[in-house]
Amino acid sequence: MTNTFAMTGGATGIGAAVKEKLRAEGHRVIVIDLKDADVVADLSKPQARGKALEQVADLAPEGLDGFIACAGLGPHVQPASLIDRVNFFGAVATIEAAMDLLKKKNGVVVAVGSNSSVLPGLDQNHVQALLDGDEERACELVDTLDGQNAYGGSKNALTRWVRQQAPALMKQGVRMNAVAPGMTTTPLTDRVFEDETYGQAMRDFSQMIPCGEIASPDMIADAILFLLSPASRYVCGSVLFVDGGQDALIRPDCY
Ligand SMILES: NC(=O)c1ccc[n+]([C@@H]2O[C@H](COP(=O)([O-])OP(=O)(O)OC[C@H]3O[C@@H](n4cnc5c(N)ncnc54)[C@H](O)[C@@H]3O)[C@@H](O)[C@H]2O)c1
Repeated sequence: MTNTFAMTGGATGIGAAVKEKLRAEGHRVIVIDLKDADVVADLSKPQARGKALEQVADLAPEGLDGFIACAGLGPHVQPASLIDRVNFFGAVATIEAAMDLLKKKNGVVVAVGSNSSVLPGLDQNHVQALLDGDEERACELVDTLDGQNAYGGSKNALTRWVRQQAPALMKQGVRMNAVAPGMTTTPLTDRVFEDETYGQAMRDFSQMIPCGEIASPDMIADAILFLLSPASRYVCGSVLFVDGGQDALIRPDCY
């Protein structure tokens, strides 16, 4: 059966792997991205988010079988407010704007978080401002934080938002989960490795991965396809860590 999916961030990296796997299975995938996309949109801009989904609705008026919020920026990006605007507000606003289309087909949502979302010491005022949906306050606070705290906070809030919303959405027929990738070989990671401030710490961190290698985008995409598929039909509001065992290594008693 051919299904219709829409996704953000399908141009490169993990998103491109998801797009290619879904298309190889014969599905239709509508990509929203800055470039190489069916719908070109800059999700850091509040007004662009709803407009992007209006274009998706024009392309798929029958509805969506799934939506993947994958677009994201890494911890090296400046100003850090861009990280909040894309990773949290861009994701939440596009998922919300896709909801009518998803309800038409009992669709499935996967939000791409990160295993950095559980880093210790995340600034809770920042995370709360994100969860409150206060974009200006969150962006003011995040510009005072270092990149790892900004990135981890944006993904912590996104993951908590998924869990907060998932039960009520399920009752309306839409199933939602998050995936928490570990370090993955993508253009985002290449840029962090090259970064003067974060490069060495990231290289050191990569040496600790129990599976012994950095993930390929395919490895993360396989987990996302599982969460999109009927094989995961009873999985709802979950956070699937796909990080080669790194979270279990660091936080063995948390689950
Ligand atoms: N690579 C990793 O190690 C890693 C680890 C954990 C989580 N993630 C997450 O996975 C997701 C995909 O990242 P990736 O590693 O594949 O990186 P990537 O840079 O290859 O892909 C990110 C995509 O998002 C798009 N994007 C960025 N800013 C945008 C904007 N303003 N508007 C629209 N699209 C925009 C980019 O054009 C790109 O296609 C991100 O959410 C990232 O935070 C990545």
